[in-house]
Amino acid sequence: MDRLTAFGLIAVSLMLIFYALEKRSSLFVLAFAAACVMGSVYGFLQGAWPFGLVEGVWSLVALRRWWGLRYRREPTTGDDRNVANFLEDLSTIAPRAGMGAYVFVKPEGSNHGFVQFIVESPRRLTIHRIWTHEPLQGSGSLMLGQLCDLADRHGVDLELKVIPIGRKPYPMTRDQLKNWYEQYGFEGTHKKMIRKPRNPVSAPVADVA
Ligand SMILES: CC(C)(COP(=O)(O)OP(=O)(O)OC[C@H]1O[C@@H](n2cnc3c(N)ncnc32)[C@H](O)[C@@H]1OP(=O)(O)O)[C@@H](O)C(=O)NCCC(=O)NCCS
Repeated sequence: MDRLTAFGLIAVSLMLIFYALEKRSSLFVLAFAAACVMGSVYGFLQGAWPFGLVEGVWSLVALRRWWGLRYRREPTTGDDRNVANFLEDLSTIAPRAGMGAYVFVKPEGSNHGFVQFIVESPRRLTIHRIWTHEPLQGSGSLMLGQLCDLADRHGVDLELKVIPIGRKPYPMTRDQLKNWYEQYGFEGTHKKMIRKPRNPVSAPVADVA
């Protein structure tokens, strides 16, 4: 086998390997593009210019794909279904109540309150609204506590804006709300508070009492 043939063999082997590994990281897409360039060089040196041309085009296509993928966060665990799993788990303790809301039911049939989310990414949820019809009796703390436990378990960031909602007078002022959220690990300003997940807990989520 001459050197050129060996070079061609290495090029197509690398293409095959990097192509197979593409799903693991966008860097393998870049590596695939580089292997295509090698394949193209081989084609032209061999005198098989159509092969060289096609490989050259392939390398450009791969480069473009890599450019689109490069800022996409790689999943660190499983298949990055953190928010989906969070919501699935939540629906077992607080059933879906329509309009994207979840209701925390009491055993006797009434409820503690509701929460509504906006999904920001597979790892981040915004608490769009959280409210109870019986304020200052512990329902809010029960709901928020359970949401934080779930967020820890599933590695989900929680985000919110501190804006009292509903009829005036509000049960809690903006500042009281902000202090309350801080007790649960939220940080930031009234405009935007974020809670990063703590070490995941392994115990099952307690049923709503
Ligand atoms: C915000 C809301 C969900 C909180 O729920 P809640 O059931 O009223 O709150 P809780 O009774 O659990 O009390 C929450 C905290 O308020 C404080 N609090 C309770 N009673 C209080 C009182 N009488 N006076 C002042 N603060 C009081 C406590 O710090 C308590 O936290 P802790 O018991 O864990 O220390 C509820 O007040 C509500 O529905 N408000 C209207 C909607 C709204 O503004 N939502 C927030 C959008 S950002």
